[in-house]
Amino acid sequence: MAFFLKNTTFHGILLDALFDSSEAEKRQLVTLLNEGIKSGAVRPLPATVYSESQVEQAFRFMGSGKHIGKVLLKVRAEEKGATTKPATRTVNAIPRSYMNPDKSYVLVGGLGGFGLELANWLAFRGAKNIVLTSRSGVRTGYQSLCVRRWRDAGVNVLVSTTDCTTAAGAAKLLKEAATLGPVGGIFNLAAVSNFFVLFGVKIGLFFFYILANLDSF
Ligand SMILES: NC(=O)c1ccc[n+]([C@@H]2O[C@H](COP(=O)([O-])OP(=O)(O)OC[C@H]3O[C@@H](n4cnc5c(N)ncnc54)[C@H](OP(=O)(O)O)[C@@H]3O)[C@@H](O)[C@H]2O)c1
Repeated sequence: MAFFLKNTTFHGILLDALFDSSEAEKRQLVTLLNEGIKSGAVRPLPATVYSESQVEQAFRFMGSGKHIGKVLLKVRAEEKGATTKPATRTVNAIPRSYMNPDKSYVLVGGLGGFGLELANWLAFRGAKNIVLTSRSGVRTGYQSLCVRRWRDAGVNVLVSTTDCTTAAGAAKLLKEAATLGPVGGIFNLAAVSNFFVLFGVKIGLFFFYILANLDSF
């Protein structure tokens, strides 16, 4: 209570509400912050800084609930002066692919054996919009089970029978996919036993099999 004797006022701010505010309000906020930093009115919160190799200690410290202010990991040293592109820095890491949840992924022939596995992998790696194409649509119980499971998990699954072997059909398919999100990737898993045409471009079956089976070479 002694704080209030100094005429101190506390303001509650819903920071997330700022994301929905107008462009002008966001600019004003940036200006106020910049001016505040220059004048010293806006000061950084107290921080406990750990090096990048002390991630575990940092989390343990934060988990103990004893800290005041921020717990920070220093991933790089401050650079002298502003640079548009910071110096390249490498860290030891295990590479892992993630899908963009805002984009859509098109799997031509996606209801086949390979397509269902790939779609599952994409969903597992974060894809939220998946388009599966087939000439005949969902036919088996397993296909409908997979689609149901992905939808239950919050993935938008569009099964399309649009024929993408013509330029017009390919354009229509891309438009369908774009209703879910900008197209982030197209995978061709359509297997037929003769010459086939994809997106208006003729490709020989031999060439297709080489591409489709690159793993086994
Ligand atoms: N399965 C594997 O483990 C594996 C491993 C490595 C490589 N591959 C290669 O991956 C490719 C796919 O294999 P898969 O096992 O998934 O074959 P699959 O089970 O026969 O599936 C192929 C799918 O393509 C669809 N399809 C065919 N023509 C189409 C078209 N014009 N438009 C849209 N969909 C079309 C078929 O559905 P509709 O008949 O309803 O159109 C079918 O569901 C093959 O080239 C294979 O060699 C497979």
